Amino acid sequence: MTADFGVCGLERQNDQKEPAGENGAANTQIEVRNLTKKFGRKLVLDNVSVSIDRGKTTVIIGPSGCGKTVLMKHFIVLQRPTAGEVYFDGQRIDHLSERELNRVRTRFGYLFQEGALFDSMSVAENIMFPIKQHFKGVTWRQVEDVVKAKLAMVGLDGFQNYYPANLSGGQRKRVALARAIALNPEVILYDEPTTGLDPIRSDIINELVLKLERDLGVTSVVVTHDMRSAYKVGDRIIMLHNGRIIADGDADHIRDHPHPTVQQFINGQVSEDDLAVLRMSGAVATSQFLPRDFQQ
Ligand SMILES: Nc1ncnc2c1ncn2[C@@H]1O[C@H](COP(=O)(O)OP(=O)(O)O)[C@@H](O)[C@H]1O
Ligand SMILES: [Mg+2]
Repeated sequence: MTADFGVCGLERQNDQKEPAGENGAANTQIEVRNLTKKFGRKLVLDNVSVSIDRGKTTVIIGPSGCGKTVLMKHFIVLQRPTAGEVYFDGQRIDHLSERELNRVRTRFGYLFQEGALFDSMSVAENIMFPIKQHFKGVTWRQVEDVVKAKLAMVGLDGFQNYYPANLSGGQRKRVALARAIALNPEVILYDEPTTGLDPIRSDIINELVLKLERDLGVTSVVVTHDMRSAYKVGDRIIMLHNGRIIADGDADHIRDHPHPTVQQFINGQVSEDDLAVLRMSGAVATSQFLPRDFQQ
């Protein structure tokens, strides 16, 4: 038994990578095609097409509420498209049953914003949870080494018997990450992994994202509005705005992007549209803040 591959000698049934078929290039792991998502009449994603490269870290940026989380949830079909298609390893997955999807989802690890740890469980039990779900009947003794290895990866071996309440925010994120990698995923989805953390703790998470990409060869998708993090971890950065992709490229491409909305976002400036809303709500007096106040 090795700690990192297979759990206690129990091989995963669905572990073989299938070659990308006619529906996807070999270096594409996830693809959405012409994805539109509406909630009622509200259009959140507007005909988005994007391919996520295997073994790379793709960062999705954009203002709050622009659809980043919704897009990422479509990658594992936690939300179903209103129109369009989702492919994983060349296989169309958006129309699979929940049961079939659960098999696909075991190949992903996800660190979602709302995906908090179970407070009533110890750190070790939290990490065991997905293993127990997937391999019925495993015992603590069987997975002890796996839990230890996963915790070591995030620098928290020795914290097995702690409870979430006794951990800092950064440590809780790291335990959640250890849980996310419990089943040796091929893809890790991170939703705002550094939100709420101070710069030093954020940087520890950034380093972990890079380390897991390097050591495990995983494909990573990171949703963030933290540009420091985006530049540091992203092989590629995609910006969403008004339900569409308005920028897509490496850090230099994004830094030098001519679109004013991209520049406003990456420089942390308030847009004209945001100011108009703030003025209407009375939050900002027109005479106090003019757009030029936010320009360099
Ligand atoms: N389950 C849902 N039902 C209705 N509206 C939703 C749902 N999930 C997200 N939305 C709406 O979709 C938009 C995009 O949300 P989200 O993807 O969470 O934004 P963010 O870019 O901040 O992650 C928001 O306006 C949000 O209110
Ligand atoms: Mg979000």
